[in-house]
Amino acid sequence: MNKNSLLRIGDLSKKEIMEILEDANVFGDIHKDWQLPQRKLIANLFFEPSTRTHYSFASAEHQLGAKVENFSPVGTSVEKGESLYDTVKTFEAIGFDAVVIRHKENEYFKELESLEIPILNGGDGSGNHPTQCLLDMLTIYQEFGTFEGIKVAIIGDILHSRVAASNKEAIEILGGEVVFSGPEQWRREDWPYMDIDEAVKWADVVMMLRVQNERHSEAHGMSDEEYLNSYGMNERRYKAMKENAILMHPAPVNRGVEIQSELVEAPKSRIFKQMSNGVLVRKAVIKRAFGYKEF
Ligand code: CP
Repeated sequence: MNKNSLLRIGDLSKKEIMEILEDANVFGDIHKDWQLPQRKLIANLFFEPSTRTHYSFASAEHQLGAKVENFSPVGTSVEKGESLYDTVKTFEAIGFDAVVIRHKENEYFKELESLEIPILNGGDGSGNHPTQCLLDMLTIYQEFGTFEGIKVAIIGDILHSRVAASNKEAIEILGGEVVFSGPEQWRREDWPYMDIDEAVKWADVVMMLRVQNERHSEAHGMSDEEYLNSYGMNERRYKAMKENAILMHPAPVNRGVEIQSELVEAPKSRIFKQMSNGVLVRKAVIKRAFGYKEF
C-alpha cells in the first residue's frame, strides 16, 4: 500500500492529524491558490451514493489543478462482474496517479494492498470515514482552538455509523472526551453512554448522526416525530445547550428526524461549515497523498 494512502483515522498519529488540520487551515487562508506543482490525474470511484464526499473531493482536486474523472459503476465493466481489485488496478494501469474510493464493504481496501498509487478512503461500509472525521475535527478546532478537555456528545444511530467510530478514535487521540447517546438497539455496549437530555447540557459539541435506514435489516418502528422527540435535536434541547456549544451533523440530514428542520441553520449549527471545511481537508489530504510537505 502506498504510505501516503488515507484509509483509517487510527492509522494517523496525533502529529499527522494536526499537520493535516494546519494545512487545511492554510488552504482556507492565504494559500488558497496553491496548486499541485505537477499535473496529477485523480479518479473518484464511488460505488455507493454520495454528494458531499464525492463533490468536495472533486472541488478540491479541480482547485489544486488536478485532472479529475468521476466513476460510478453504472455502465462500466463492474456490471459484467469485474472485481474491485481489477477495477482499481485498471485505473492504476491506465495512468491515474491516485484514487478516492467509497464502497459498501468494510475495509474494502485490504484487498488493494498491492497497489502502488495512493488510495483515499471516501467511506467503507459501517467502518471508516477518515476525511469526514478530519473535517469534523477541523470544525471543532476552528471553534475552540484546542481539543484538550473538549466534551463531544455523539447522538443517534451509533451502530451503523462510520462517522461515530472514526470520530471517537480521533477525539480520544487528540485529548477530548466523548460520550454517546441514542436508541438502545443502536448502542455499542463498551462505549460510554449518557441520556440525551444530560448529554446536550454536558457537551461543547453536540454531534447528531443520520439514521442509516439503508443499513438496517429491519424497520426501527419509530415514526419521525417519535424519533425526534426521543433522540433528536428539538427546540427544547437546543435551548439547553451551553452558550458556546455547537451543533454538528455529517449530513445528509433527515430533517424533522435527527434535527428539527428550522435548527439545521440555527446560530449554533455548523453543518454547512462542516461541508465547506470538507474541501479544505480534502485539499490537505491530496497534498499529503503526493508527498508535498511545504506550500
Ligand atoms: N457526510 C457524507 O459523507 O455525505 P455524503 O454521503 O453525501 O458524501
